[in-house]
Amino acid sequence: MASKFQVPRGTRDILPGESERWDRLESSTRDVMSRYGYREVRTPIFEATDLFVRSVGEATDIVRKELYTFEDRKRRSLTLRPEGTAPVVRAYLEHSLGQADPLARLYYIGPMFRYERPQAGRYRQFWQIGAELLGPAAPAADVEMIDLFCSILRSAGLDEIKVHVNSLGDATCRPVYRERLREYFTAQSERLCGDCRERLKTNPLRILDCKVPSCQPVIAGAPSVLESLCDPCREHFDAVRAGLDALGISQETAPRLVRGLDYYTRTLFEAYASQLGAQNAVGGGGRYDELVRELGGPATPAIGFSIGMERLLMSTGPIDLAQPARPDVCVVAREPSATWEALKFARSLRNVARYDAKDALRVMVDPSGRNASSQLKWAAKVDARYAVFVPADPDGHPVRDMRAGKDEAKQESAESLRRWLLEHPAPEEAPR
Ligand code: HAM
Repeated sequence: MASKFQVPRGTRDILPGESERWDRLESSTRDVMSRYGYREVRTPIFEATDLFVRSVGEATDIVRKELYTFEDRKRRSLTLRPEGTAPVVRAYLEHSLGQADPLARLYYIGPMFRYERPQAGRYRQFWQIGAELLGPAAPAADVEMIDLFCSILRSAGLDEIKVHVNSLGDATCRPVYRERLREYFTAQSERLCGDCRERLKTNPLRILDCKVPSCQPVIAGAPSVLESLCDPCREHFDAVRAGLDALGISQETAPRLVRGLDYYTRTLFEAYASQLGAQNAVGGGGRYDELVRELGGPATPAIGFSIGMERLLMSTGPIDLAQPARPDVCVVAREPSATWEALKFARSLRNVARYDAKDALRVMVDPSGRNASSQLKWAAKVDARYAVFVPADPDGHPVRDMRAGKDEAKQESAESLRRWLLEHPAPEEAPR
């Protein structure tokens, strides 16, 4: 049943069977965030273009090539958000969140947009989980953030997480490093790709992030940032590493790690999943001590991360689209005149007035007006555990175990069936 319309290039539909996994990932994320005291912020999907130009950085690939920018009817330049940090900082300043809590702990879950070349794990609309901690400058904040990052990944089912960490230095020592890099790469410029020669003029640090194979040997020989750190930055980085060790977080120092956004200072980190290949981080983040001031606020150190949800889901299991709905019960109307009773019986079984996830039964009805045997066939197709028939016989409602193909004791009412079902939970079943 192909239609003449298809999803736009680089985007995808999340269908039943997969959407349940998304739902579980969002629930486990919200749970972990809340245990660490992080609270959700939901910002608009588009913002003033200038917000991203000024934060992510004019010379970055994201701003130069990947923004979805449009003018609205009043000719304002707006951009679909390519990332979540700048919008969170904008909201933090706009609503003075730092006054309510000088250690503002915020998180978000939502779609981001980048006009990238689509490939496995790289989309033009993708989802991120992100957290930001605004206020503290001390290394313990970096350690908390990386610990939270690992807890989210672990709660989603990713084991054996090794975090790559680096320090980019600050306004004192980074210019020194940038100059050293410029000298080194200028001497090697014939071996660099066209983009990197351009980067040599705008920001030689960007070259370290180049994925073109012929640039890799040149990058491998580049001077390490760690040799250029000033004393305060070195002490900060050593303290972060010591803190990670103290918490038992497995880490690897990666002196050539840089990230595609310009707002970072000092600590940078990333995690990879073996299923994604070495180039695709499942998530990453870092410190951005200057960004709040650059966006017009008071000097406020901050640190955060984002995790790509598609990448996390790809690395924690196969995507199975063929899952049926699997209700606990299908209510079967034995004759057309019992249709309303079937709907009412189903509603009683669902017991939605008293919402409690533990007691939630999934109950479905075939509303198409077909006869009882067709309704039963449909119940088998959606892999229902039980079918219950209305109206009742004089001694109760017949109940059929659909998977075992046998009849159970009749039930007097929806309430008694509900109690009975809760006492007879389904045997181990793939989570849905
Ligand atoms: P980022 O490294 O640009 O950082 O993105 C974070 C994660 O988003 C990546 O590691 C990846 O998993 C996912 N991601 C990025 N682009 C794509 C894409 N085109 N398709 C699929 N997944 C993608 C940031 O966005 C920063 N805001 C992180 C941060 C928060 N730093 C401080 N606070």
